[in-house]
Amino acid sequence: MTRDVAIVGAGYVGVPLAQVFAEAGLRVVLVDVDPGRVATLNRGESYIEDVSSDDLAPLVEAGSIAASTDYDELREADAILVALPTPLSANREPDLSIVLGATREIARRLRPGHLVVLESTTYPGTTRDEVLPILAAGGLQVGTDFHLAFSPERVDPGRTDWTTKTTPKIVGGVTDACTAAACSLYERALDTVITVSSPEAAELTKLLENIFRSVNIALVNELAQLCDRMGVDVWEVVDAAATKPFGFMSFKPGPGLGGHCLPVDPFYLSWKAREYDFYTEFIELAGKINENMPYFCLDKITRALNSQEKSVKGSRVHLVGVSYKADVGDLRESPALKLVELLREEGANVSYHDPHVPELPEHGLVSASLDGHVESADCVAIVTAHTGIDYAGLAERARLVVDFRNATGSDGRLNGRVWKL
Ligand SMILES: NC(=O)c1ccc[n+]([C@@H]2O[C@H](COP(=O)([O-])OP(=O)(O)OC[C@H]3O[C@@H](n4cnc5c(N)ncnc54)[C@H](O)[C@@H]3O)[C@@H](O)[C@H]2O)c1
Repeated sequence: MTRDVAIVGAGYVGVPLAQVFAEAGLRVVLVDVDPGRVATLNRGESYIEDVSSDDLAPLVEAGSIAASTDYDELREADAILVALPTPLSANREPDLSIVLGATREIARRLRPGHLVVLESTTYPGTTRDEVLPILAAGGLQVGTDFHLAFSPERVDPGRTDWTTKTTPKIVGGVTDACTAAACSLYERALDTVITVSSPEAAELTKLLENIFRSVNIALVNELAQLCDRMGVDVWEVVDAAATKPFGFMSFKPGPGLGGHCLPVDPFYLSWKAREYDFYTEFIELAGKINENMPYFCLDKITRALNSQEKSVKGSRVHLVGVSYKADVGDLRESPALKLVELLREEGANVSYHDPHVPELPEHGLVSASLDGHVESADCVAIVTAHTGIDYAGLAERARLVVDFRNATGSDGRLNGRVWKL
């Protein structure tokens, strides 16, 4: 069956993108190596929180969205979008093996008229220097026979005010014709498309956005540690600064960075920069501060327990919220997992509650109810503040609370029972 768009990678990026194209009347096929995911999608069921099964099922039923493990589906599609993971290797270097492996599969099926767009976050030069040679090896000419562009996905899972459809899309093609071809595809489904002069500019735009967040979060995280020593409430300071109508943007401190993007993507750029004898010091510094936050959280829990004449060893510590951000179940790089590890190393008896994460098999834990655990734990640590939990009530009932998200609304004066980051 012919398709307007094939999306390689049916994950947090690929599935919402498929929905947006299908709702605009395009026929989409998602190609993924995971047969379980493919079968789930073909039943009209979604495993991505931003796409409801209620929205997906009619699109699947109408034939607007299909999923497959077969790369041959790409032959019948006009455009091929690549939304595959770009992780770091064990020694924290960019690992493009998944993207380049898929590119080789695409190259085998590339035909005149194809448009290929890389959406995965990566360092400047990937599209032109890594992807293009593989695609062009068969003799087709970029810009005439086929088109190639980079267009970063900017989705923020869980966010409802800005979606895949409404968030402006950046496009940078290898040639002007490539840019034009990619724009005309995205303009069929997305509200706003913005062009830049090259794939390198588009690649770096996405990294700047993520580095900007990482650096600003590190700034408030460092301030939170200083405020802790000074006895000043960092949340009060951030909220007060945010009243300035210009020249300030509010970032909240927290137990550390999580998700696929912020702990990983900046290092794609610092790695690439070394090729130019250049050291991206902001990225390294932000990484250092943010990676230290779970250790700081352990220290805070230790001091809080100590104030009640308890040691971490043997204490029951109940974590509330273990995904990396509120209202999603995404565990990737979640600082809560590091905190579980650190607490256990110190001999704590750890349990957790998270309505979005039923189990943590790698840690042998299942989500326990709040009732009972809140009262019986020596310490309740609020690591991620999902909505729908009565944090003020929790603070009233618990023996000791360490609130890393300012969720309790406490001013820290509940007889020393509520400690805040
Ligand atoms: N998740 C986000 O919030 C977000 C936001 C913006 C950009 N990005 C970027 O988008 C890219 C994709 O991220 P994601 O979060 O969608 O990843 P994901 O892990 O949610 O999904 C990736 C999918 O690719 C599949 N896959 C792996 N290898 C494959 C292969 N060789 N062929 C076909 N399918 C394969 C996996 O089974 C999975 O379903 C990354 O570069 C990421 O940095 C992610």
